[in-house]
Parts: sequence; C-alpha cells; structure tokens
Amino acid sequence: MSSFTLRRFTPEDLYHVIRINRKCLPENYSESFFMQLYRSYPESFLVAVEDDKIVGYIMCRVEGGFLGTERRGHVISIAVMPDYRRRGIAWALMIEALRAMYDVRSAKTCYLEVRVSNYAAINLYRKLGFKITRRIKGYYLDGEDAYVMERPLPLEEELLRSVEGVYQRP
Ligand code: COA
Repeated sequence: MSSFTLRRFTPEDLYHVIRINRKCLPENYSESFFMQLYRSYPESFLVAVEDDKIVGYIMCRVEGGFLGTERRGHVISIAVMPDYRRRGIAWALMIEALRAMYDVRSAKTCYLEVRVSNYAAINLYRKLGFKITRRIKGYYLDGEDAYVMERPLPLEEELLRSVEGVYQRP
C-alpha cells in the first residue's frame, strides 16, 4: 500500500482544495463553482490524503446525455502539491475519477483541455490513453493554446489493475 489514500471530497475540504488550486494552477474558480461540481458529481470530485493533509484533488463533470446524445466526462481540474508529485497520486486520481464517470454516469468518453506547454500533464494523459483531438487557439486567459485530449471509456483492465492494492479506494 502507498502512503496516500483517496476519498470523495466533502465540504470541509473546500479551503484546502482552493489552496492547492491557487498554488498549482493559474485557472482558479469561485467557491460556488467547486461546491456546484461537488453537489452535481460527488463521485468524481476526489481528494488524495497523505500525512493527514489533502495533497491533491480532481474534479470533473459529465456532459450531454440529453435526447440520446452520448455522455462525455470532462476533467475540469487536477493538481497535486509540489512535494508530493511523481509518486502516482495524479495517476490514481485520474483512474478513480474515470472509473466513477463510467460506472456511475455511464460516460462513454472523457475529454479535457491542457496547456500546450504542460509537458507533465500531457505525458500523464497520454499514458492513460488520451489522444490529442484538436488545438484551441488562445484558450487560456494569458493567450496560450490548449490541446483537447480525449479517450473512450471504460478504462482497460490493465489500467484498472495498475492501481490494485496501491491505495485505499474511495
Ligand atoms: N514530467 C514528465 N512526465 C510526468 C511528470 C513530469 N514532471 N509528472 C507526471 N508525469 C507523467 C509520468 O509519465 C508519470 O509516470 P512516471 O512517474 O512513472 O514516469 C505519470 O505522469 C504519472 O505521474 P504522477 O506521479 O501520478 O503525477 P503527479 O502526482 O506528480 O501529478 C500533475 C501530475 C500534472 C497533476 C502535477 O504535476 C501538477 O499538479 N501540476 C500542476 C497542475 C497541473 O498542471 N494540472 C493539470 C492541468 S491540465
């Protein structure tokens, strides 16, 4: 077992998650935005805990599903505190959120946006089977372009097995 565990976000975690978001990413959100995602999609808003502290989070939503359209998972934000990186925490958060979006919401694909310069994140998503499907010019407030990356769901057995016994499941 690893020294971290994953669990669902609870409202008491809000300020810790906001602190991590502000430290790690230029894309910041209002308290109500975090709470709205928690209320609507609690199964894919997860936190990683280590040393009794929240050290990472992922939050997602599921879009579509109206009038027979396909449901698509959307990873809105993921971050891990700098001292806790390169130990598989983001990998675990992604696997569990993708698993939940398929199991609970029947999402058939998942997509996300990532800065074209964010090598670490692009590498993580590629390893999880995401492919770049398009580039959006000037997507971010500072003018940087985004790649849209996407993969089908469910995850392959091999990916699910990669986290078996590694941490306590949410
Ligand atoms: N350079 C290259 N590849 C990297 C990487 C880096 N700095 N960080 C992660 N990866 C890739 C590797 O393939 C890694 O596997 P390996 O360690 O066996 O080589 C794989 O992703 C899994 O890494 P993991 O340890 O689970 O990632 P992490 O917990 O360190 O978190 C981020 C990765 C991207 C979430 C983290 O760096 C972060 O919080 N960055 C700032 C916020 C951010 O950019 N979020 C994404 C916005 S789209």
